Amino acid sequence: MKKKIFSGVQPTGNLHLGNYLGAIKNFVTLNNDDENDCIFCVVDLHAITVSQDPTILRENIRETVATFIASGIDPKKSIIFNQSQVSAHSEAAWILSCIARMGWLSRMTQFKEKAGKDKEKASVGLYSYPILMAADILLYDSTHVPVGNDQKQHLELCRDIAQKFNNDYRVDNFFKVPEPLIQKEFSRIMSLKDGSKKMSKSELSDLSRINLTDEKDQILNKIKKAKTDSLPIPSTVKELNSRPEARNLIGIYSSLANLTLENSIQDFTGKNFSEFKEKLSQILIDKIGPISKEIKRLLKDKSYLDKILDDGCKKAENIASAKIKEIHDIVGF
Ligand code: AMP
Ligand code: TRP
Repeated sequence: MKKKIFSGVQPTGNLHLGNYLGAIKNFVTLNNDDENDCIFCVVDLHAITVSQDPTILRENIRETVATFIASGIDPKKSIIFNQSQVSAHSEAAWILSCIARMGWLSRMTQFKEKAGKDKEKASVGLYSYPILMAADILLYDSTHVPVGNDQKQHLELCRDIAQKFNNDYRVDNFFKVPEPLIQKEFSRIMSLKDGSKKMSKSELSDLSRINLTDEKDQILNKIKKAKTDSLPIPSTVKELNSRPEARNLIGIYSSLANLTLENSIQDFTGKNFSEFKEKLSQILIDKIGPISKEIKRLLKDKSYLDKILDDGCKKAENIASAKIKEIHDIVGF
């Protein structure tokens, strides 16, 4: 049996190195393995849980598709589509919102972080967002879901929703209970300015992240300004653990070089950060530079990107509409 892989990325602009190392790089590996059927979804319904400018959203949807392809996902092998075009997602989200419990959702840390101090002003959609994510996954009988570490709790909720639906309606194994695919190392890339905060699209300072569209000069400048400490690079990972910024930069290097943290430390032990930063900038320019160029090239061909979405939507629609019909039957509609 082939593995069924599903993941989603929000088209909210500024796709960055954290998205790439935490998720998209893994999508590419999964796409390249013939044992997998992969679906990669541009989750535009999730994007509007916070306010979006319609013109910019439309461009960001295309930019997310361009990023997938520029990173190495092959649209002939994997389905790439945008969530809003397959109405089963919204419909299944409603049905599953009658399964999910308030108590489960109120434990979600991402909502607490995103809603901030004034929870009363957060949209209802931001609160119920993980139910829509469960709908995305369960409609396609997904067996494996590659994500960054920040999505772990949402996937546990998805598993709970699947199991409760199967139990409540006595339909054993109707929804497949998916496994998360979270990399052991480097699944949480931190801000270049503060090693205690995750690298994020929404952080005000652009110096906090490497965007996948950054050019050579921007990469050099951001790495030069990245926060470090005054100690040289240690000889063990244990010593790194109390130095979050240093650990993050060496983690980024290791992930790009496909090395373990132990191995890359050995190459740099005793050296100071200025020497390490030169190597880090170089590998970033080598790995991210071509992706950045390709994104910009693809963005000039909107009709190509729209055609990929159209084709992907048709394939996704076929799978999702069959599943939603079965859900109707089970629920008694
Ligand atoms: P989002 O941009 O929130 O839709 O995230 C898309 C994917 O990137 C998800 O699988 C996230 O878990 C992952 N991701 C986002 N930020 C980071 C980060 N700083 N480190 C690792 N993975 C991340
Ligand atoms: N919530 C995810 C994020 O913000 C995006 C997402 C939506 C997703 N639906 C999904 C990820 C389904 C995996 C599977 O990163």
